[in-house]
Amino acid sequence: MIDRLKVIKVEAIAELGGISDLTELERWRIHYMGKKGQLTQVLRQLGDLPPEDRRIIGALANEIKRQLEDELAGFKSRIARTTVESKLEKEWIDVTLPGYPVSPGRLHPTTQALREVCSIFTSMGFQWVEGPEVEWEYYNFEALNIFKGHPAYDMWDTLWVDFYNEKGEMPMLLRTHTSPVQIRIMEKTRPPVRVIMPGKVYRYEATDATHESMFYQVEGLAVDKDITFADLKGTLYEFARRLFGEERRVRFRCDYFPFVEPGVEVSIDCLACGGVGCRLCSNTGWIEILGAGMVHPDVLRRVDYDPEVYSGFAFGMGVERISMLRYGIDDIRLFYSNDLRFLNQF
Ligand code: DAH
Repeated sequence: MIDRLKVIKVEAIAELGGISDLTELERWRIHYMGKKGQLTQVLRQLGDLPPEDRRIIGALANEIKRQLEDELAGFKSRIARTTVESKLEKEWIDVTLPGYPVSPGRLHPTTQALREVCSIFTSMGFQWVEGPEVEWEYYNFEALNIFKGHPAYDMWDTLWVDFYNEKGEMPMLLRTHTSPVQIRIMEKTRPPVRVIMPGKVYRYEATDATHESMFYQVEGLAVDKDITFADLKGTLYEFARRLFGEERRVRFRCDYFPFVEPGVEVSIDCLACGGVGCRLCSNTGWIEILGAGMVHPDVLRRVDYDPEVYSGFAFGMGVERISMLRYGIDDIRLFYSNDLRFLNQF
């Protein structure tokens, strides 16, 4: 039996020398050390031997088994290494070659304008807040004094969301302006309120050079005791001059928005002609930049602010419009048609 073991060992090691892949190696392992393997069979017969022989032969058999297992492990790691080496040899790369340039990209012109507008107001103490783009009809309209049948309902042609309440009404929509965020903020907080509310708005619109079905607005609101029209003027005057230049003249004129009283339109003297009259300002010399007004007492009452105690002003502007004026862009559709020739200019 001792001879048999020695033969197994010599044969096994010799055979291993001719093996070059892992499948063959596994076959080799099974042949010698598997359940019915050569070595295993010898080990099984140990029980039939007298105790003295069993000790000696058992020790030898186990020693050989250990040696074969060591050989196996060594062989496996050698094969693994040569596979990696040959792969590296075949698939080398020159790491010193310069890489492909990666463009860092840039902020979209709307994002740039939006941040600039908001940062002017945050520097004046306004807080940046955001509201939902899918809005309840109530916040978008009724809470702002815009009632069904009211002609102002048409001023904000609406995209309705396919959602019905128990009454079978469609009470949800894509907000048509950022003004509903005013209501949400006032419902949740008590004066003093000073917030700036940027975001996307949607209109059911046939698009053309000055109309998009999605665009951005920035809304503002300040409510406290003793806020007057002078605060509105001072704030918006400062804003217009910081954004469009110290030399700008600013005009406040009566306008109508249902949620403010009085309402105003704010214009600056034309950037292109300085007020003489040109194509950009339709020969008026003035360019409208935003709508504003003193918050309507009914709006305050609806959010439980006492209009005898508190007053405030609000304003809203289109962000693309601001960009268009500053850079002389004549078509709003350029902002969202993803043409890099346009976008890369900002
Ligand atoms: N929400 C108005 C619009 O979309 C803009 C606006 C006008 C907002 C007057 C205001 C405001 O807060 O006071 O046309």
